[in-house]
Amino acid sequence: MLYTLLAIAIAAITYWLYGRGLYFYLFGDLKTPGFLFLLRNRNQEMLLHKWVEDNKPATKDFYKLWLFDQVAVVAASPDAAKFLLTDRDHVEKAFGKRGPVKAQELFGHNIVSAEGADWRRQKSLYSGAFGQDSYKIYFPIFTEVTKKCMKKFADDAEKGDVDVVQWLSKFTLDVLGLSIFEIDFQSMDGKISEYYEAYRGFLKEGFQAKFLIAPWLTSLPFGPATKYNQCHAKLIELLSSIIEQKRNHKGGKTDILAHLIQASESADQGLTQQELISNVFVLFLAGHDTTSSALSWLVYELSRNQDIQERLYQQIISVAGERDPTYEEVHKMPYLDMVISESMRMHPPVTLIISRKATEEIHYNGVTIPKDHIVGFDINHIHHSPDIWENPESFDPERFSAERKKGMHRFAYLPFSLGPRQCIGNTFSLIEQHIFTIKLLQTFKVLPPQKESAEATRVSFINTPEKAWVTLQPRK
Ligand code: HEM
Repeated sequence: MLYTLLAIAIAAITYWLYGRGLYFYLFGDLKTPGFLFLLRNRNQEMLLHKWVEDNKPATKDFYKLWLFDQVAVVAASPDAAKFLLTDRDHVEKAFGKRGPVKAQELFGHNIVSAEGADWRRQKSLYSGAFGQDSYKIYFPIFTEVTKKCMKKFADDAEKGDVDVVQWLSKFTLDVLGLSIFEIDFQSMDGKISEYYEAYRGFLKEGFQAKFLIAPWLTSLPFGPATKYNQCHAKLIELLSSIIEQKRNHKGGKTDILAHLIQASESADQGLTQQELISNVFVLFLAGHDTTSSALSWLVYELSRNQDIQERLYQQIISVAGERDPTYEEVHKMPYLDMVISESMRMHPPVTLIISRKATEEIHYNGVTIPKDHIVGFDINHIHHSPDIWENPESFDPERFSAERKKGMHRFAYLPFSLGPRQCIGNTFSLIEQHIFTIKLLQTFKVLPPQKESAEATRVSFINTPEKAWVTLQPRK
């Protein structure tokens, strides 16, 4: 009896794994780094990059990875990434459709996860919230929150070296709270908002491997499942109450949620309550850790590259002097654009994107990817590939000068992804990054730390350093 049950269990698991691409993983023709991916090494994305380099030419276009419970085929060249990101006949989005049902409710009904006509409908409702005019409205918010951040930096700098990562995660959260809901989280003042706590709690509880592999575990009466369900209920309650308040207080509201509600009410097919909740959730997910990562690395690189910092400072002073820049002035600083681009090339906030599915069998340069397999692209590898970039490990903003950009492969630089599904918040993030850097250099000279380690400690695939210490020397 026991052996029969065991045999049935093994057969069931094998069948399930087969459906998840096990056969292709074991016997398909692409190379894999094996379980390197699961080691959770701090420098994981650079280890993966090294592995891809060492295994060329076999890994030139694609390699494969085992991701907890399924195989993923990853594009490693600009051409292969371009194919995946632009061929709508063979590839579609596959985001938010795994894990427990409650996670799918939150992850799976928004602009990031939607496909086809559903995505076009949602995207059109976003146009007001992310149109050119809306940035002029968010601009004063960015400026005020940035100035508050500079005050916090100044206080902290009096005590010695400053770990900018801690501050930037709070700074970008406060910017996002005010721009999405018009709510000041005051996280730079040390407050822990209940919204943010519920959001973080849900991510922490929901992203456990056991729930991804066996979503039904969340229905069982045991500690982690209870915690998960409580966090989910709290988050839904809070997000619903914000949406309700916004619906009842119309007029003059300029935040992203107000835009989405207004657009939904005037469209034939607006967002449902579930879609509104899911969209606000995903804006949180997409909208602040990413920019905080970009800025942390940017400050770190400025501290290590004094000549670049000085040239940038001179450009800022020549355009805006020592006062707050206007919206128009922010767009008149080409060297600042170049420095930000080079920082996101070397340190892309999102290193690896695995959120697509092959809807048909794919044949590309002699590689066959079976239908229904998960596919993605390796931004970090493409950004560091010596086939594309000369001395890829040196920080050189000149790569992004107008002259040199002319000869660049369009898919060689893709921190915000490219194609129809590229980041809708890229301008939002770039303006935030511009204002922050302008105010930072107007206020401080950024130097390497005096006591702490000058190297930023890395964490794995979500590429935010754990700590990045600098000395902030007031300019006056
Ligand atoms: C440095 C900052 C950021 C980076 C590096 C970044 C990166 C990305 C990437 C790589 C994608 C494509 C994902 C995929 O193809 O599966 C994406 C999509 C998206 N991002 Fe961002 N993002 C940033 C900031 C933001 C901000 C500030 C917001 C909103 C406030 C935002 C909202 C979105 C949305 C809604 C999508 C989905 C677009 C669609 O599918 O049509 N992102 N982002």
